[in-house]
Amino acid sequence: MSECTNMKRIGVLTGGGDCPGLNAVIRAVTKSAIAEHGLEVLGIEDGFLGLIENRIRPLRFSDVSNILDQGGTILGTSNKADPARFCVGQDRKGSPIFEDVSDRAVGHARDRGLDVLVCIGGDGTMSGASRLVGHGLSVVGVPKTIDNDLMHTDVTFGFDTAVSTATEALDRIRTTASSHHRVMLVEMMGRNAGWLTLHAGAAGGADVILIPEIGYDVEKLCARCVDRSRHHKAYTLVAVSEGAKPAGGEVVVDRVVHESPDPIRLGGVSEVLSEQISEGTQLESRATILGHVQRGGRPTAHDRVLATQFGHHAVEMIMRGELNRMVAMQGGRLTTVSITEVADRQRLVPLDDPLLTASRAMGVSMGD
Ligand code: F6P
Repeated sequence: MSECTNMKRIGVLTGGGDCPGLNAVIRAVTKSAIAEHGLEVLGIEDGFLGLIENRIRPLRFSDVSNILDQGGTILGTSNKADPARFCVGQDRKGSPIFEDVSDRAVGHARDRGLDVLVCIGGDGTMSGASRLVGHGLSVVGVPKTIDNDLMHTDVTFGFDTAVSTATEALDRIRTTASSHHRVMLVEMMGRNAGWLTLHAGAAGGADVILIPEIGYDVEKLCARCVDRSRHHKAYTLVAVSEGAKPAGGEVVVDRVVHESPDPIRLGGVSEVLSEQISEGTQLESRATILGHVQRGGRPTAHDRVLATQFGHHAVEMIMRGELNRMVAMQGGRLTTVSITEVADRQRLVPLDDPLLTASRAMGVSMGD
């Protein structure tokens, strides 16, 4: 494909939950666009919210210097601003009132002369972006999320850092588990996908790994803890996904964020399980919910490299005129996939995942 020479000005936004590596992508997009292609770059503040509210500012080379190793996003983000279903207030009963403000958002992009908008985000951001295409805006997606649950890409940036953070937490909590002969549960994020818990659990040597894809059986879980305390080691380290649930049962909901396109926030299953295990085994048990610690801090070298590759590839796509697609990594190669194929879908851990199989083979309980 030849270079698309009519590109002059591109926008970039970060949407959804923040995650390590966002700044590395913003830097790679901005520097490649300016230095390699002489494009102008505009940054949209707070994701789609800034597009709706027309908060858009120029990004110069100097604006993206020294941000490679910084967590968060210099542009800000929002996980409550879907232009197609934007909360504009509340009715008399306190329920949110939604409006489709896509035309307003696209109008602001047009007024600023944006040829393409680079949307860095997860499945919610890709859904929002794909709907804006229907209103005449060209987009390119970059896959972000600590959950690693985007379709058609083997990996998202932010995942590696979150796995490292959660692994370190397991390493630390193991010392208390061992010293006090306790069952210690460590709850990890990931929504309905168990990637983060599976990988951190394997890296941190968890004895039990509970992921949303495999319903757990509390009685079996208790039996495993008792067996370990009698015959093996006098403690059990459990890595549990926030989305884990009993076989045939429900997830534990922490809160409902009504204005959000994906309103359910999970959390608390480790506390429920800790009580059940204490009662069922008479062993002492504690739960630690890692929460947003997993989203913060400096990206690992792996995530900085991945984010840089993704950001540069996004600009290459724009220059080739390969629009309305998302950068993806498949089999170790950078490629692109249609953004509509990614929107509103989640990639779950398959039951024949090699790491899952290896964990089982090594005697790790998956709770079933
Ligand atoms: O998608 C990223 C993520 O951190 C999930 O793992 C988690 O369920 C959710 O976002 C938490 O969202 P919030 O920051 O709105 O509480």
